Amino acid sequence: MFVSENLGINGNGHLTIGGVDTVELAAQYGTPLYVMDEQLIRRTLRRFHDSMNDFYYGKGEVHYAGKAFSCMEMCRIVASEGDGLDAVSIGELYTAYKAGFPMGKVGFHGNNKTDEELRFALEVGVGHIIVDNISELHKLEKLSEEMDARPQIMFRIKPGIDAHTHDFVKTGQIDSKFGFALETGEAFEAVKEAINCQNVEFLGVHCHIGSQIFDIDPFEEAARVMLGFIAKIKNELGFEIKALNLGGGFGIKYLEEHDPAPFESYLKRVSDVVKDECERLGIALPSMYIEPGRSVAAPAGITLYTVGARKEIPNIRTYISVDGGMADNPRYILYGSEYDAVVANKAGEERSERVTIAGKCCESGDLIGENMPLQHAESGDIIAVCATGAYNYSMSSNYNRLQKPAVVFVNDGESRIAVRRETLDDIIRNDL
Ligand code: LLP
Repeated sequence: MFVSENLGINGNGHLTIGGVDTVELAAQYGTPLYVMDEQLIRRTLRRFHDSMNDFYYGKGEVHYAGKAFSCMEMCRIVASEGDGLDAVSIGELYTAYKAGFPMGKVGFHGNNKTDEELRFALEVGVGHIIVDNISELHKLEKLSEEMDARPQIMFRIKPGIDAHTHDFVKTGQIDSKFGFALETGEAFEAVKEAINCQNVEFLGVHCHIGSQIFDIDPFEEAARVMLGFIAKIKNELGFEIKALNLGGGFGIKYLEEHDPAPFESYLKRVSDVVKDECERLGIALPSMYIEPGRSVAAPAGITLYTVGARKEIPNIRTYISVDGGMADNPRYILYGSEYDAVVANKAGEERSERVTIAGKCCESGDLIGENMPLQHAESGDIIAVCATGAYNYSMSSNYNRLQKPAVVFVNDGESRIAVRRETLDDIIRNDL
């Protein structure tokens, strides 16, 4: 009935998340409101790390990709599960650091890390830095020498895999701004250089083929390609790679018709490929890292809005306007991403119409979705958009000088604020 397992209906016919009444949440905290279900985040992280233990002899680590959803509370939850973090900017590093995250379990990413970012990463002692390009390697060598550090590094590799997903979120193909290319020999030459660097320790290789991928085949293919590369490094350079990071990208259910493979199946199949290929190629089993972001955060979250105007344009469409939009969820205007929505205070009723849910920004394309099956919605109703936990809050903006919504976590029937709603004074905070 709902796309995420943590959603239900209570005796009042209201939508619940993690057992908590969403209509009450809207009344208590106001709308728009991001709501995250702590238990589902924890369950998903456990599914990932338990599968790594089961299928990969415990030689695996889960690094939650903070770009999907990051705030101090999320960092605390990930830390308490014993998992690591993939951070992609000084802002994400700082959030984790201030939350007391064990920085030795952080992998630092980015295709254009600044000196300031690299210095900060070295200062706080991140576990490893995933180097994207040769100039970054040179910069890091120099900074490490200056700072008397010897960071562990991995290389981000473009394995040349075509994942069947939206063009904007594909990253593994040769024409990508991310990483070293395999086909051209660029990656091999760079590895040759890195293993002889004095001030960095070359640990391994990383790839990430894209996001919201339903198919397991491209992940298997990427693993094969990466192991072929690891074997080449061993055979031609006599250097043994210790770590293989296969990135994130696991697809989730946004709509009823989406049918992603269970995470356990991904991990079983990919672990088998890695084990078989290592044996066939005569290489030692590397530690394996994965970086799930969306799959951990998205299903755990919903966004609550209050309906304002209802506009019926005969024979054309019905617009239901809500008090948020592209500023808190830019994914429709950016990617045409589809969501499931429910009128939270009428969740038990039939979805009797198809509507366009519109945001309140001055932009015609500011929609949450079109042709969405929904209960009859009127002014004052609460709409819940489902599976918004990833890439919504983290991609939100202050367009039209809207205040960013609060983030509330629910757990064991209770709710608590994790990020306060911005005030009007926050809007002018940096204005002079
Ligand atoms: N690792 C690396 C190196 C990545 O670049 C990404 C996502 C991840 C892990 C996590 O991927 P996930 O498990 O979340 O698919 N804004 C887009 C998604 C961009 C993904 C960027 N990289 C969206 O809203 O769909």
